[in-house]
Amino acid sequence: MGTQRTAAAGAFARKLVSRTGSIAPAPRIGRVFPTAVGTTRDKIIESDCLTALRSLPSASVDLVFADPPYNLQLEGALSRPDQSVVDAVDDDWDKFASFAAYDAFTRAWLGEVRRVMKPNATLWVIGSYHNIFRVGATLQDLGYWILNDVVWRKANPMPNFRGRRFTNAHETLIWASRSAEAKGYTFHYEAMKAGNDDLQMRSDWLFPLCTGDERLKDEAGRKAHPTQKPEALLSRILLAASNPGDLVLDPFFGTGTTGAVARRLGRHFVGIEREPAYAEAARRRIAAIEPLAADAVAAAPAKRNEVRIPFLSVIEAGHLSPGEELSCASGRHRALVRADGTLLAGPAIGSIHKIGALVQGLPACNGWTFWHAERGGTRQVIDTFRAEVRNSLQAQL
Ligand SMILES: C[S@@+](CC[C@H](N)C(=O)[O-])C[C@H]1O[C@@H](n2cnc3c(N)ncnc32)[C@H](O)[C@@H]1O
Repeated sequence: MGTQRTAAAGAFARKLVSRTGSIAPAPRIGRVFPTAVGTTRDKIIESDCLTALRSLPSASVDLVFADPPYNLQLEGALSRPDQSVVDAVDDDWDKFASFAAYDAFTRAWLGEVRRVMKPNATLWVIGSYHNIFRVGATLQDLGYWILNDVVWRKANPMPNFRGRRFTNAHETLIWASRSAEAKGYTFHYEAMKAGNDDLQMRSDWLFPLCTGDERLKDEAGRKAHPTQKPEALLSRILLAASNPGDLVLDPFFGTGTTGAVARRLGRHFVGIEREPAYAEAARRRIAAIEPLAADAVAAAPAKRNEVRIPFLSVIEAGHLSPGEELSCASGRHRALVRADGTLLAGPAIGSIHKIGALVQGLPACNGWTFWHAERGGTRQVIDTFRAEVRNSLQAQL
């Protein structure tokens, strides 16, 4: 949720500016009323989301990000201690007659989204306490399977001006697959971990609200959209749960944060937005995005997808010889390579891992990184031999 409200959407039609504040070049992003996903790729459909979703083919998208109306149900104006009025999100698109009306709408769009998802696609929905629990229950009722909920903790939340509640400092994202049985969904676990200083990425993410140059403004300097999401949030989602070339659907496109990030990261998008002014802002914004080089966005290979190479294969490939001595990096611990792919240390025989653990008196050891062989007067870790065997095997597959 954004912190403030701007003028109604129609007020800044055709006057919207790019994220840098200058008028963007002629948009290349089309306005379409599609019949097939091919015609809507990298396009914004200006329509009610239910009508647009019904026109998309089944099982055609790889990832969905949805930032639906919050149904804030604001009553009266909210003012700061200095009596200035807070511009809350009170736009028409956020108004529903009742919880029942909101639930019916939620059920309808979530049902259509599930239809257009490929069997291994996943869905992310973001919301606040006003709507996320209703959305979560509906998701489960429709057969989706919740994989995680992620808390976006806001580094700079709007204070609670009345002092009657805690500062509302987070939003919740639900990440779900189509069903409990859905297999093979994309999750770049290792890339997320590597990007998090080799610690597992947790489900609490800290990002600032979308401010500064990134925030789209109209010519009067007002926010173009009250709830523009930070690109960093979308980047993390797309990097974690999609691949370059994937098709990402956003049925509540707003000013196109999903499309901008998708284009930058080499993904395709389909955006649906009902308000022409928001769609126009999104179109200009996305047209100004320069896609990153393929090397910079290619998914890092996941270890679990790599061909498993047993130690014996390294011997069979001639990288090590039976009878050869291995040592640890310091040379303190030693063992002998046996023809069957085990090591011998004193009376003990076992795998490279077991013998590595034994000589150190530890419960476990990664033998691939512990043991070294002497090559040309220096100690070379045996994991490099494994990599060579794997590379040559993969080249032949
Ligand atoms: C919470 S905002 C999304 C903001 C967007 N994530 C961004 O970063 O700019 C929800 C958007 O959904 C649009 N919307 C609401 N109801 C809609 C409907 N039934 N069909 C299509 N768009 C709708 C609103 O106009 C609004 O722009």
